[in-house]
Amino acid sequence: KILVLDFGSQYNQLITRRIRDLGVYSELKPHTMTAEEIKEWGPKGIIFSGGPNSVYDKNSLRVDPKVFELGIPILGICYGMQLMAYTLGGGEVESSNGQYGHAEIDVTEHDKPTLFSGLPEKQPVWMSHGDLVTKVPNGFESVATTAECPITAMQDDARKFYGVQFHAEVRNTKYGNDILKNFAFNICGAKANWTMDDFIDLQVNSIRKEVGDQKVILALSGGVDSSVVAALLNRAIGDQLTCIFVDHGLMRKNEPEQVMKALNEDLGVNIIKVDAQQRFLSKLAGVADPEQKRKIIGKEFIEVFNDEASKLKDIKFLAQGTLYTDVIESGTDTAQTIKSHHNVGGLPEDMQFKLIEPLRSLFKDEVRVLGKKLGIADDLVWRQPFPGPGLGIRVIGAITEEKLHLVRETDAILRDEIAKAGLQREVWQYFTVLPGFKSVGVMGDGRTYEYTIAIRAVSSIDGMTADFSQIPWDVLSKISTRMVNDVKGINRIVYDITSKPPSTIEWE
Ligand code: XMP
Repeated sequence: KILVLDFGSQYNQLITRRIRDLGVYSELKPHTMTAEEIKEWGPKGIIFSGGPNSVYDKNSLRVDPKVFELGIPILGICYGMQLMAYTLGGGEVESSNGQYGHAEIDVTEHDKPTLFSGLPEKQPVWMSHGDLVTKVPNGFESVATTAECPITAMQDDARKFYGVQFHAEVRNTKYGNDILKNFAFNICGAKANWTMDDFIDLQVNSIRKEVGDQKVILALSGGVDSSVVAALLNRAIGDQLTCIFVDHGLMRKNEPEQVMKALNEDLGVNIIKVDAQQRFLSKLAGVADPEQKRKIIGKEFIEVFNDEASKLKDIKFLAQGTLYTDVIESGTDTAQTIKSHHNVGGLPEDMQFKLIEPLRSLFKDEVRVLGKKLGIADDLVWRQPFPGPGLGIRVIGAITEEKLHLVRETDAILRDEIAKAGLQREVWQYFTVLPGFKSVGVMGDGRTYEYTIAIRAVSSIDGMTADFSQIPWDVLSKISTRMVNDVKGINRIVYDITSKPPSTIEWE
């Protein structure tokens, strides 16, 4: 395994991801980890991430100088390289105007078994730095150069220390993956034998060690992340885990049943299901403003969760499905234990739990692989993104039971037909919206005056931007016919053909 020490770069988790994709286990750890702790963790190699600081800042992040005495190969990226030059004797770092974006490097040394073995002499890289190394430390040589940054890469082959000024972990660095491969395999001698099964073993052991015979609580939302955490904790500690699953009545058709089946029946996860539909509906009655609805749903969720949690005794831990993307703070913050519960949010002061967040180092697609390995049913593992407020923001304006029914039923038809057409992995998110107005139609020689349903389907990577999906006409035609025939109260279907921006994905 390879350790990545975190100096605050926005790309720090990407480094661990690239290494794991090579089949070598990798984790991001705080830069404050001591040489002793690192030795105990036992990595084959260490990578220092980039970071926003200058080594000369008063508060810049340092590394335990003893890591250089462990005999473990080290690769410093960007700030990590500057830190090496600054910490090891003889090096110099200077501030510059900075360099951001594409650059082409000249590799001057690739005969030895270096980072650049087998790679072209000229290669495009991605730069993003202020300071730069102007003199290599004792024992090092410069091995790559650009016009703006004469020492773009440096190495001390004897001690196996390497530094690159560019970001090897981003795709824009054409041979970045090969450089990381050279480091991991040729230089560190790591083996490509890590799989998600090892991650499960590792987490199960560490959860058992941390929790002991204490009890853990988890707010199960029915989404992928909290479901995977539930399955993982269930594997580790069985009935010491209690999940609270709040059915707010805003889930999709059959979703609460599917969650109970996949986790409780199939995997034996201990779940308390709270039927709170009426409680949510009455709080939402007559509320038309989307933000107001969101607030009410969020607040009510916490209250229901608290009500249930306070009935349980001796709970010491709160588990959460926080992913790396949710970790807003860089991983340097070791105070993950007793701190704000940002996923559940707003728990009362006297309910102090220790946090368990076993997915913190994973990306969404890795979480799905993990969920599959843990035996969670496909329909749950491959669930499309679904907003916390659920169908509550897909009925435009004030929510009524009738409107929820129309959106839920049409949504179920849409999902069914998309699945039948084999498009469910192609379309990123798809759902129906009830705009709330009625229009005239004609059915069976009679005039109708009923609601309109809008179909929304988009392709996206992360939800930040999205293109409307071009679902084939024949599929749309089937969907439209079924919705109008099967769901009483609907006489018109429209298709949303705007992208994001200028629209958003949801209508509210
Ligand atoms: P928008 O509508 O902002 O949606 O383009 C982007 C993504 O975020 C989801 N979304 C939400 N998720 N709570 C959530 O948990 C919310 O209030 C919320 N609003 C939007 C949306 O489904 C899409 O995937």
